[in-house]
Amino acid sequence: MYFSALVTLSCLFSLGASQTITIQNDCLPAGGYTLCQNLWNIAAAVGSQNSTLMSSSTETVSWATNYTWADGGDSVKSYANVESLDAKGVQLSNISSAPTSWSWNFETQSSGTQGDVAYDIWFGQASSGRPSTTESSYEIMIWLSAIGGMQPIGSQSTTGIDIAGHTWNLWKGSNENWEVFSFGSAGGDINSFDVDLNAFFTYLVSEQGVAESQYVQVIQAGTEAAVGSATFVTTSYSVSIVPK
Ligand SMILES: *[C@@H]1O[C@H](CO)[C@@H](O)[C@H](O)[C@H]1NC(C)=O
Ligand SMILES: *[C@@H]1O[C@H](CO)[C@@H](O)[C@H](O)[C@H]1NC(C)=O
Ligand SMILES: *[C@@H]1O[C@H](CO)[C@@H](O)[C@H](O)[C@H]1NC(C)=O
Repeated sequence: MYFSALVTLSCLFSLGASQTITIQNDCLPAGGYTLCQNLWNIAAAVGSQNSTLMSSSTETVSWATNYTWADGGDSVKSYANVESLDAKGVQLSNISSAPTSWSWNFETQSSGTQGDVAYDIWFGQASSGRPSTTESSYEIMIWLSAIGGMQPIGSQSTTGIDIAGHTWNLWKGSNENWEVFSFGSAGGDINSFDVDLNAFFTYLVSEQGVAESQYVQVIQAGTEAAVGSATFVTTSYSVSIVPK
């Protein structure tokens, strides 16, 4: 048992050479995740972006992205991210915990770079639905970094909220048919984040009127880039949902 468990574990890690994607909507299977470039707004910009998968397993993924974006003002050009294949399809009322761990840094960053490092989490009434669709009721962002004065959509509604061992300012906005709640770190960059996302979800239910019948449809984690040149590295990321 002990040996076969060890062998199984080591086989879950992909040991091959890293893979890089370069095209606007390229994605790569990444163990329990999908790595996507999501250069959704490149028509507004001049530049390029490439993303590399370094390693992946069912639990953990390591990846990086390089970008150079000019023009288009401070509008977001891209959201290179990893999306969990498994942490979804659970009603808020049925979540026991949603542990996540994310270690990241910028290896390089030009002066004047604008962007953020953030989770993008989607809730809806149906058990499944893609982001930014008619299935979307809420978009929940958790900003671990706001770079070069970037701000979330909408306006700041509450400051100094303590959730999951960190202090946040909450921004509220709306976009087409969904509402957006963005938690911005009030204490600066959080390069090593190790929390239970359910603390945010229960806050949204108890304090912001989100129905606990809503389903978590998608959990993504990545970096929005607006302008500048940077190399962003996620050394380790994981997320899961433990149902009741
Ligand atoms: C980023 O660019 C540097 C320099 O060109 C290169 O060494 C590195 O492999 C690139 N990383 C990614 C994630 O593309
Ligand atoms: C992305 O890769 C292309 C080659 O495929 C390269 O021309 C470009 O400079 C790279 N961009 C960045 C930001 O590293
Ligand atoms: C809650 O989650 C458990 C485990 O996945 C599942 O068996 C159960 O049907 C769920 N309950 C509801 C009300 O969705």
